[in-house]
Amino acid sequence: MEKQFKRYLITSALPYANGPVHIGHLAGVYVPSDIYTRYLRLRGREVVSVCGSDEHGVPITIKAKKEGITPQQVVDRYHEIIKSSFERLGIKFDIYSRTTSPTHYATASEFFRKLYDDGKFVEQTSEQYYDEEAKTFLADRYIVGTCPKCGNTAAYGDQCEACGSTLSPDELIEPHSAVSGSVPVKRETKHWYLPLDQYESMLREWILEGHKEWKSNVYGQCKSWLDGGLLPRAVSRDLDWGIPVPVEGAEGKVLYVWFDAPIGYISATKELTPEWEKYWKSEDTKLVHFIGKDNIVFHCIVFPSMLKAHGDYILPENVPSNEFLNLEGNKISTSKNWAVWLHEYLDEMPGKEDVLRYVLCANAPETKDNDFTWADYQARNNNELVAVLGNFVNRALVLTKKYYEGVVPACGELNDYDRETIAELSQIKEALESNIENYRFREALKEAMNFARIGNKYLADTEPWKLIKTDAERVNTILNIALQITANIAVAIEPFMPFSAAKILKMLAVEGYDWEQLGSMGLIAAGHTIGEPSLLFEKIEDDVIRRQLDKLEAAKAANLAAEVKAEPQKEECSYDDFQKMDIRVSTILAAEKVAKTKKLLKLTIDTGIDHRTIVSGIAEHFSPEELVGKQVLVLVNLQPRELKGILSQGMILMAEDASGKLRLLQPNEPVNAGAMVG
Ligand code: 2FM
Ligand code: ZN
Repeated sequence: MEKQFKRYLITSALPYANGPVHIGHLAGVYVPSDIYTRYLRLRGREVVSVCGSDEHGVPITIKAKKEGITPQQVVDRYHEIIKSSFERLGIKFDIYSRTTSPTHYATASEFFRKLYDDGKFVEQTSEQYYDEEAKTFLADRYIVGTCPKCGNTAAYGDQCEACGSTLSPDELIEPHSAVSGSVPVKRETKHWYLPLDQYESMLREWILEGHKEWKSNVYGQCKSWLDGGLLPRAVSRDLDWGIPVPVEGAEGKVLYVWFDAPIGYISATKELTPEWEKYWKSEDTKLVHFIGKDNIVFHCIVFPSMLKAHGDYILPENVPSNEFLNLEGNKISTSKNWAVWLHEYLDEMPGKEDVLRYVLCANAPETKDNDFTWADYQARNNNELVAVLGNFVNRALVLTKKYYEGVVPACGELNDYDRETIAELSQIKEALESNIENYRFREALKEAMNFARIGNKYLADTEPWKLIKTDAERVNTILNIALQITANIAVAIEPFMPFSAAKILKMLAVEGYDWEQLGSMGLIAAGHTIGEPSLLFEKIEDDVIRRQLDKLEAAKAANLAAEVKAEPQKEECSYDDFQKMDIRVSTILAAEKVAKTKKLLKLTIDTGIDHRTIVSGIAEHFSPEELVGKQVLVLVNLQPRELKGILSQGMILMAEDASGKLRLLQPNEPVNAGAMVG
């Protein structure tokens, strides 16, 4: 029999406060955890949801150094941005704390100290890279050199961002310190290690035997870690940013960020409630960690070993982890600005919080990596939210206004079709519950949307707008049912789209419902007066999507520019030399391939002076069709020359990017052919 729990403790991976949150984080962790928590709250369960900023670790110190500010200033900035953007998207934690809070310092220090005092750590001395000039040990990230795999000269000691390889500092060619530029030396240093090997059999039993129901990606990763054998892991670092190791003789050493961060869940609960222990130390609490796939080992292997070593704490019941979300076919990258940043989305798309929540859930990378595209975002909004959900709710409310001045009509006798529809609707609740409780949020969302799908079909089949003239009594029943479905929608979509759920409740002029009422046809009483209908969702036009795509294109271009060293400047030329060149805006009138060549196009050009032929080596970059009608810049007084038997009179000017791709040069708005350039 399934274990029964009294209360729930939901944690969501603490985002690093070294940048804002993007759609990958949302789809992977925060939208699913919010859906789950909202669902539990709606069901009246005792639940606490905690999160906060992860404010330690090397990347934060690197960012601070780059910007010439302190790590504290970095985390203060991003903590605020992250916290407020979550709130604006309706991601509702009971507490959003941070790992620089005094409670967290105390909690993490005490945790370490207890393990230390109980002899749970092993002390080991090892050789680490040391920067003699800057007088500091170097984290792997602080060592840069040439990647042995791809030749990138700016690879880090832990990873090459150009080819994605995981590296160790020893593999780098010509390693040097990112702090001083000097060549680092190896020096001995002492650290505390958690002997994970001692927890291996406990973990095997607990996960591999006890939690076969975990998602296959999570279970599979755990199994492969456990089958590979666990090694002791250092829980301290030589660094000046973090929680000092609370042991004498540990000056200059801090807790490893992955030791203190998960303890942040405990600290946040402590800050939230004096009853925090009942959440962390009672077997009847269901602890669920929502995380991204890169966090699996820390939450399923390392943190549980820490909790076991401490002895007082429960272990997670489940660790639902998603795969990654890509963006327009490419991996989301903070450093390359290849992302849709939540705070920017909220500013640029006001009122579209639920659209993003919907798209990220409908397209969540639950079982494999998935791709977010703006075209899909637009299609889901226009074809699903507007055409299905918004359309149904609007029709039900507007017809009630029109036929009954907003007063809910009484339900009369049901016919077979009504009964079939109601029976179909009554099955949704169970399917919805089972999907949410098994972390299948995409399926759950489909079930919630089924209320609107079935509702639309019901209205289309019963056609109350026709019947109103011939059988007004029947219309009473149809619209009563349509309004009951509308009220059901408000309950069913609340975990997924809380803003729209609230809007429906307002339009119905009702306070709210319990989850248990879902599926009932008695949610809204006959005689009740509804509020003013307004559109739930609006169609998103192409230009809005175009702007978002342009933004991504700009990020791509900026990356390219940063990666590419421009060709050195050519030899000086005089003004007279330049003046000799006669460049004109021209229009391409016709284009065709030059037979038996791959690269050549024969173009007929209106130079404003005359119509002439130019042969251009651009056939691999442009099709003839896409060129016709385009304005281009042409060097018209270039000495004519014959190419494949055709006399070419001039040259079309092009820009070539680092990858060799050609682009036409054009005036920013059309001008008359023959206009001079110079
Ligand atoms: O991967 C990350 O973004 C980490 N900051 C997650 C930490 S989760 C927890 F352990 F705090
Ligand atoms: Zn590389």
